[in-house]
Amino acid sequence: MAISRFLTALVFFFHVATATATASVFNVTTLAFDEGYSHLFGEGNLVRSPDGRTVRLLLNRYSGAGFISSDLYNHGFFSASIKLPSDYTAGVVVAFYTSNGDIFPKTHDELDFEFLGNIRGEKWRIQTNVYGNGSIGRGREERYILPFDPTKEAHRYSILWTATHIIFYVDHTPIREVVRSDAMGGEYPSKPMSVYATIWDGSTWATAGGAYKIKYKYAPFVAEFSDLVLRGCRVDPIQQRPSTDHCTDADAELMAADFAIMTPRKRAAMRRFRERYMIYSVCYDTLRYPNTLPDCTIVPSEQERFWESGSTKFPPRRRRSRRQGRLPSASDPTNQPDV
Ligand SMILES: *[C@@H]1O[C@H](CO)[C@@H](O)[C@H](O)[C@H]1NC(C)=O
Ligand SMILES: *[C@@H]1O[C@H](CO)[C@@H](O)[C@H](O)[C@H]1NC(C)=O
Repeated sequence: MAISRFLTALVFFFHVATATATASVFNVTTLAFDEGYSHLFGEGNLVRSPDGRTVRLLLNRYSGAGFISSDLYNHGFFSASIKLPSDYTAGVVVAFYTSNGDIFPKTHDELDFEFLGNIRGEKWRIQTNVYGNGSIGRGREERYILPFDPTKEAHRYSILWTATHIIFYVDHTPIREVVRSDAMGGEYPSKPMSVYATIWDGSTWATAGGAYKIKYKYAPFVAEFSDLVLRGCRVDPIQQRPSTDHCTDADAELMAADFAIMTPRKRAAMRRFRERYMIYSVCYDTLRYPNTLPDCTIVPSEQERFWESGSTKFPPRRRRSRRQGRLPSASDPTNQPDV
């Protein structure tokens, strides 16, 4: 009895400690939805909270839904706390991303967080991707599972994009960094982008390569967005290309912000996350890219965990309890290389 009470207290303590650390992650100001975003599609499927600071996007058999930033940004830090739909979500895709595809259809840039639903009892997977100057034939996907259940509570997902580097964050942990290099050339995103959030039916590919489709009897699927952050140099959509001096101050401020600086501690946290949770990396997919992409940093200890298909050889580690100590079976859909 005493021991179990002690354990409960300990779990509670860690829970509080984690929550506190998360709350003070970044020095940013959050916006109400209408201060930075507008409704993009899905009539009736975007629902604002009474205070306007939380937005729900619904997917049902008639439509998904999405919103878009009212401005374009030339570099920036874009962030939202997102709570994903729970239960059976195979085929559901939730995305939080930046793009300029509607303005530059042939030479578009894009930075993605995509959340891929799953069958009941299996984990959501997240995918990051980077496109530059229309290189849609050159996807730069990475996939991960998450160290928490993203349907239980909201977690913060952030994209930093500066003139020199890109960082994807999950809460305060950087999970991917792309450093601009001459070799990358135009494949580094370099034109103003809008910020989007969407929910849609990705039945053809999202779960085990399309093996598990959406089941609309579980609809509506609801993704909740809050703690909205849009920071960067705002650009007039009409003018499109900013004059460089217009963004100099905003760029300098962005580069100096806490979330733009990779400390050794953050780098170590990133390495740990990737060792534990990355399940696919384009950098190790030598079948697809026999010549490694220029922005890839090959980490030998990391590489030996991956097949030449880019998928991890070892099943991702799970939270172990005494009862659930077994390894996942090979038929586990989370282990399929479903790119
Ligand atoms: C937070 O950011 C603002 C600028 O957005 C800056 O003026 C302020 O000093 C920062 N605070 C801390 C504690 O870094
Ligand atoms: C982007 O692509 C276009 C067309 O393919 C090309 O003309 C241009 O030079 C590229 N821009 C950069 C910065 O590489």
